Amino acid sequence: MGSSTDPSSLPSASSPNLTLTQATASERERIWSLTHRQWGGVLSHEQYVAREAYLRNVPLQKNGGITHWVLTDSTLAPDQRPILSSCDTYRKRAVSCTPSGVVTDGTAHGIGAVFTDPQYRGKGYASRMLKELGPVLRTWQTADGQEALFSVLYSDIGKSFYAKSGWAAFPSSHLAFPVVSTTPQTGSTDSVSATPIGYHEPAELCAADESLLRAALPRRAADKGATAVVALVPDLDSVLWHLMREDFIAKHVFGRTPTVKGAVYGEKEGARVWAVWTRAYYGEVGTLHFLRFVLEDEDAAEEDNARGVAAVVGVARAQAAEWRCREVQTWNPSPRLRALVERAGLGAEFVDRDSESIASLMWYGEGETRDVDWFYNEKFGWC
Ligand SMILES: CC(C)(COP(=O)(O)OP(=O)(O)OC[C@H]1O[C@@H](n2cnc3c(N)ncnc32)[C@H](O)[C@@H]1OP(=O)(O)O)[C@@H](O)C(=O)NCCC(=O)NCCS
Repeated sequence: MGSSTDPSSLPSASSPNLTLTQATASERERIWSLTHRQWGGVLSHEQYVAREAYLRNVPLQKNGGITHWVLTDSTLAPDQRPILSSCDTYRKRAVSCTPSGVVTDGTAHGIGAVFTDPQYRGKGYASRMLKELGPVLRTWQTADGQEALFSVLYSDIGKSFYAKSGWAAFPSSHLAFPVVSTTPQTGSTDSVSATPIGYHEPAELCAADESLLRAALPRRAADKGATAVVALVPDLDSVLWHLMREDFIAKHVFGRTPTVKGAVYGEKEGARVWAVWTRAYYGEVGTLHFLRFVLEDEDAAEEDNARGVAAVVGVARAQAAEWRCREVQTWNPSPRLRALVERAGLGAEFVDRDSESIASLMWYGEGETRDVDWFYNEKFGWC
């Protein structure tokens, strides 16, 4: 069957014949052909399909880390059935912590590329797919007898569509740093430098970050009094996925790949300020996103941390300018980071997003999703 079906013969979104299942290899290609127009950005159709195929073999996606889902008609054979709606899910490591400080390691799923062929839109197919998917993910790719901790997605269509299927909108803000350095204020720390990092450093940095997360979880859980504090683990695989995706695009846009993937200020582990980043291009001009912005010692002297923040942002801005990015963003900055940015006089604007990249979460534990606190809710989790 080709990509089109007579609309008058389409099943109702409530039909018992509809099923959520996995795409075959050729159905996958058919979906990529359709989604190119939506998400291809600067990539040609051929390049986009090549990128999607390439990403299946990089960390996070490889070894079955990605699943391609379709909503289709169960009475028809694979490759002969209409793809009524589709999406991908990514298996991720995650942690949760109870108010009494008990930390659980588990699985979370990231959902991306929710898509309905334009000819099938407005008939309830995406909603039906999501209603089936939420409960399926609870036990998808989990160890025997275990349940996933939660699933997340990043909505580009506002806060209500996914909330209707159980993914509640969570804080979705960012600091936007202008790329051109603002005039340094008195006492500015612009002249201090951070060390650029490439592919080798994130292994150690991510391990240190995970240790800090584990140490911080019980404190945060006690402070927040939430049903649970949850986080995706900012591990090396999550970072590498972004870096390799960036490289694929850069190679096609610029004919070369960026070697500076972040910057570190200070040398003593536990006292550094650092960030890893990725550049995203959907048009000719991109955005440099901090995947994680880390103050290893939040309680260090404010002046030292402010100096580190300014130094790291300084490297990021220079990279943004070199790689045709209009803006530098850090998602959901902590109050501490915001204060340091302010103190360092970096001229950042705080943006509370209401329609794009709305971080949304479905909690599988006891209690209500709305009572969960999402810690480390930063760009590294996006998919
Ligand atoms: C979003 C999308 C998956 C919905 O698929 P669908 O099968 O038509 O969805 P349903 O029929 O279940 O629900 C339709 C609802 O989608 C919502 N919706 C679709 N596009 C939207 C948009 N750009 N902004 C806000 N809501 C939107 C509306 O609430 C719509 O309700 P309506 O029928 O009252 O207008 C489809 O429009 C699509 O593929 N869009 C392009 C890709 C995309 O934006 N994906 C989402 C990325 S987060």
